[in-house]
Amino acid sequence: MTVREATDADWPAIWPFWRDIVEAGETYAYPLGATSEQAREWWFDGSHVVVLTEAEAGERVLGSAKMGPNRPGRGAHVGTASVMVDSAARGRGVGRRLGEHVVAWHREQGFAGIQFNAVVETNAAAVRLWRDLGFEVVGTVPEAFDSASHGRVGLHVMYLDLG
Ligand SMILES: CC(C)(COP(=O)(O)OP(=O)(O)OC[C@H]1O[C@@H](n2cnc3c(N)ncnc32)[C@H](O)[C@@H]1OP(=O)(O)O)[C@@H](O)C(=O)NCCC(=O)NCCS
Repeated sequence: MTVREATDADWPAIWPFWRDIVEAGETYAYPLGATSEQAREWWFDGSHVVVLTEAEAGERVLGSAKMGPNRPGRGAHVGTASVMVDSAARGRGVGRRLGEHVVAWHREQGFAGIQFNAVVETNAAAVRLWRDLGFEVVGTVPEAFDSASHGRVGLHVMYLDLG
């Protein structure tokens, strides 16, 4: 498995799992029914974007992450990130590799911390992975996410201090 910087040429490989994850309605609050072009602009929004690939009759993209400052200006010393793994490739360490990359990248860039703004409280895999990497839940906005299967559930703000 390799993590490398993504380019626009990777979008056709990211789009199918991006769409499936968003439309599943369990983990992300992007607008529903987005076109590929809209979603590409949201994912490649000037953030640092990476893909995790596996050599397999060429190169197969198993997951992607985007990262950068959480806020502009006087908030720019705290980073944020989004991570998505193709459902067919879950449970094999892809998310952990991308999460470790996110933390290492923020350290290298000199960020003071990483804030995840909206981790769905019923997203057990993500909550467990981020806790494992050292993130803490600093607060939960009650009923802020309308989960397709659970109804309204909380959104955790999770934070990792890199100081
Ligand atoms: C969350 C996500 C990134 C995890 O990716 P993954 O490749 O399946 O995760 P990994 O195989 O690297 O597992 C890493 C850790 O996640 C946790 N985890 C993964 N799957 C889990 C599950 N089904 N239940 C509970 N914990 C789980 C475990 O702590 C695991 O560590 P372990 O293998 O040592 O037990 C992936 O499920 C995903 O893309 N989900 C949809 C989008 C999303 O939720 N993104 C994050 C939003 S905050």
